[in-house]
Amino acid sequence: MTEHVLQMEDVTKTFGSGRTEVRALKKTSLEVSRGEVIAIIGPSGSGKSTLLTIAGGLQGPTEGEVQIAGERITELGEKDRSKVRLEHVGFILQSSNLVPFLTVSDQLKLLDQVKKGNMPKDERDGLLEELGITKLTGKYPNDLSGGERQRVAIAKALYSNPSLLLADEPTASLDSDRAFEVMKLLKSAAVTKNAATIVVTHDNRLTDYVDKVYKMVDGVLHLQGEGGSERLGESRTDFLEKGGNEDGI
Ligand SMILES: Nc1ncnc2c1ncn2[C@@H]1O[C@H](COP(=O)(O)OP(=O)(O)O)[C@@H](O)[C@H]1O
Ligand SMILES: [Mg+2]
Repeated sequence: MTEHVLQMEDVTKTFGSGRTEVRALKKTSLEVSRGEVIAIIGPSGSGKSTLLTIAGGLQGPTEGEVQIAGERITELGEKDRSKVRLEHVGFILQSSNLVPFLTVSDQLKLLDQVKKGNMPKDERDGLLEELGITKLTGKYPNDLSGGERQRVAIAKALYSNPSLLLADEPTASLDSDRAFEVMKLLKSAAVTKNAATIVVTHDNRLTDYVDKVYKMVDGVLHLQGEGGSERLGESRTDFLEKGGNEDGI
């Protein structure tokens, strides 16, 4: 199998047509390897969420090809695509992907019913502990704060041991300590589970943990730096501070 968990080649996405046409993603190629964590930053509306949802097969591109774990998902029908998603992809999306009528622990149990290879119990308990949500397992999403929901969504994504982890602003409603914890978790999941990870963020607290930083501007992805956090150094931090604030998917 290829080293690249994700391969996107000449992918574009256009919404609407004529006067309402929006070219959300211009010709984009991106590869992410096992164990690699990349960050994508950029202003609101620049196409980050579009890229992430196409990378995970939640929506198809207008042009181009996407491979996840060696499967050409752009050539698959919806049923086979959802199989690939279930098997390989963990999403941490801004609109949290929690099921409103299931408790936290039932959200995880549901995954056990549809998929093998999830974390064993000890590891799951350790994950919940690290995220500080052990006491919340009997609660429903609506009884949780925004930050708690976000941490549960992170637990749910990591629980399934995905080979491709896609996180859209995963720390937006967390304080600094929690944000660091979460980023460490994502990094350690990438390294210990050999997962490829993409984190969309404008949060410069997080980029110390990533291998490459890309900036998205008007649907075009630019590589800003690579080679590990140390070597990215000052200039990257300066640049990240200009990343701007943004709201959502
Ligand atoms: N389903 C959609 N229909 C029409 N336009 C969309 C849709 N999704 C995104 N867009 C547009 O594509 C552009 C990029 O959006 P998005 O990927 O959400 O940006 P970001 O995540 O960087 O804020 C924006 O102009 C947005 O309005
Ligand atoms: Mg977005």
